[in-house]
Amino acid sequence: MIRFEDLHTYYGDSHILHGVAGEIPAATAVGLLGRNGMGKTTLIRTLMGYVRPAQGRVLCDGREVTGQQPEKMARLGIGYVPEGRGIFPNLSVRENLVMAARPGIDGKTAWTYERVLQTFPRLAERLNNGGHQLSGGEQQMLSIGRALMTNPRLLILDEATEGLAPLIVAEIWRVIAQIRSTGIATLIVDRDWRKVLAHTDRALVMEKGQIVLQGASAALLADPQALGERLGV
Ligand SMILES: Nc1ncnc2c1ncn2[C@@H]1O[C@H](COP(=O)(O)OP(=O)(O)OP(=O)(O)O)[C@@H](O)[C@H]1O
Ligand SMILES: [Mg+2]
Repeated sequence: MIRFEDLHTYYGDSHILHGVAGEIPAATAVGLLGRNGMGKTTLIRTLMGYVRPAQGRVLCDGREVTGQQPEKMARLGIGYVPEGRGIFPNLSVRENLVMAARPGIDGKTAWTYERVLQTFPRLAERLNNGGHQLSGGEQQMLSIGRALMTNPRLLILDEATEGLAPLIVAEIWRVIAQIRSTGIATLIVDRDWRKVLAHTDRALVMEKGQIVLQGASAALLADPQALGERLGV
């Protein structure tokens, strides 16, 4: 569904991505691993159109979408839960969810308001609370709920469990597994590489703006030494 070729991305004079290539096939869960500052978020921002690569291409369904507006990527069915959460603090939980609602690219609405609330019962109890009144875990759930309301075919999760208590982290992984089982493709970045590999079909490992290792998640899990060298664990 999404393919990217030879991506070179800069922030000012800093050359961050050095020829990154890969793909996220439909209904496939892909993990993106790498130590801090290796370029994971920059790759996602490049795919979503928040930064334009100096070189290389992003393709969606075989059509070039390099540097398209993020809104256009969303309309193509890409849901994005950014690092550090993307909710509207001054709107209520209900408003945050309802304003994101849209049918999928196939015209279907698999994820309704009701279904999102069933998936996140904590949000159902806080519908009238403002985004700023939620705990960190609830804000993260709202951020994922908002992305699901757009009925994406690909959901990108950048550090969705960061800074959350273990029980909430477990709940988020449970929801990620549920989302995966519905056939939505996922691109998952998380510090817990074991969890990432357990919840994905394939994984890419980045180092200094390049993909240095990739393969089936089960195979990567079976060779912890290769992974350890790249992740410093
Ligand atoms: N807006 C920016 N302007 C300049 N440099 C940036 C910017 N954002 C990130 N960088 C730099 O780009 C490099 C890659 O950062 P990026 O956020 O993509 O890494 P990451 O793999 O997501 O790291 P983390 O695991 O800490 O989230 C880092 O050296 C970072 O300092
Ligand atoms: Mg990051």
